Amino acid sequence: MEGYILDWANLLLRWVHVITAIAWIGSSFYFVWLDNSLTRPQDPELQEKGVGGELWAVHGGGFYNPQKYLTAPKTLPENLHWFYWESYSTWMTGFGLLVVLYLFNASTFLIDRNVYDMSPGAAVGLALSYLAAGWVVYDCICRLFGKSDRTVGVLVAVYVAVAAYVACHVFSGRAAFLLTGAMIATIMSANVLVWIIPGQRKVVAALRKGDPVDPVHGKHAKQRSVHNTYFTLPVLFAMLSNHYSMTYSYKYNWAVLVLIMLAGVLIRQFFILKHKGRINVAWPAAGVAVLGVVAVMIAPVPRETVAGKDGAAAAPVSFAQVQEVINSRCIQCHAASPKLMPSAAKGIKLDTADEIKAHAQLIYQQAVQQKAMPLGNVTQITDDERALLGQWFEAGAKTAN
Ligand code: HEC
Repeated sequence: MEGYILDWANLLLRWVHVITAIAWIGSSFYFVWLDNSLTRPQDPELQEKGVGGELWAVHGGGFYNPQKYLTAPKTLPENLHWFYWESYSTWMTGFGLLVVLYLFNASTFLIDRNVYDMSPGAAVGLALSYLAAGWVVYDCICRLFGKSDRTVGVLVAVYVAVAAYVACHVFSGRAAFLLTGAMIATIMSANVLVWIIPGQRKVVAALRKGDPVDPVHGKHAKQRSVHNTYFTLPVLFAMLSNHYSMTYSYKYNWAVLVLIMLAGVLIRQFFILKHKGRINVAWPAAGVAVLGVVAVMIAPVPRETVAGKDGAAAAPVSFAQVQEVINSRCIQCHAASPKLMPSAAKGIKLDTADEIKAHAQLIYQQAVQQKAMPLGNVTQITDDERALLGQWFEAGAKTAN
């Protein structure tokens, strides 16, 4: 029953998380596009009003004419739309999901004993500290070196790379990727909460009082919001990476994470320049080239060379041997009532010969090629046992012999 309730919590949190993230990233992409696509108004009346840029668009059967004021309109309208709930609710649902999925199941999801052995309590503490440290370090970098956008950019990139390296040496690969994404996403949301919105509140308060506006608030908010723009694609990859065990189960998985995030930044740069009318295909080409390097780097090694049996024909494997491996390494999580999971992980049960046969392809992919299973290798499968599963599959995955 507990497993069933957790599954529902997972479903609802994930659903809302994806919806709010679309609203947040969507409005953020829209404003980046809008800001970079504005042109100076020709109409002297608009210039007189203080409009520095405008744009015409048609959407959903209506014509729209957004106008951006150089500083602010002479009188602020009563009704001003703010954009922050998208960001806060994305963070809150994301954090909830992290708690339900990873922190509640720390020993299976956060810990990989071959990476670093620790107690579930320690793993939860480290995961939460990792998120908090991300914000503290990033915020210090911006406060100390904020005058130079370039210095800040380089330092933040170096910090993210170091953090990815550390996470991949502390947590299971799968958790390390997700936590690095969550750390950057926490920075993005904290930027909105701590800098962007309070800065805007100060500006609006000054305008309402008729006081002069301190341009420093605008500068800070702009810098943080530019960072958020570049963080977007890397974070989205990290959030989706769980589906691609080939990326996080590679030996140097931290390098894979850093390179794919870099590709995201390069591709984002293309779109930002394109909004300003500058088309430079070198950026996405570089991004795709980086992805190509990663694809070659993590390509599965043909198993013959791994086993290195000097070309000798592999001894035939009996199904009894296969079932023994599955029984000792997999059914703890993949059975009708498994010991280590509330219910069969991903609905996959491997406790009968028929089911093993039916899932042969997936078993091969997950346990032999990608080494993603057993999750965090909690059941300590050996390389020889993986090779045995591989030989069985390659010989036709027979269940009778
Ligand atoms: C500690 C628990 C645990 C053990 C042990 C374990 N698995 Fe899994 N397995 C999981 C979880 C959790 C998932 C779902 C992962 C996800 O949602 O991406 C999963 C998913 C799978 C999938 C589906 C993957 C997909 O994306 O379709 C296969 C196949 C699989 N496991 C095979 C195995 C095999 C084979 C073994 C033994 C060699 C094994 N598992 C051992 C927890 C485990």
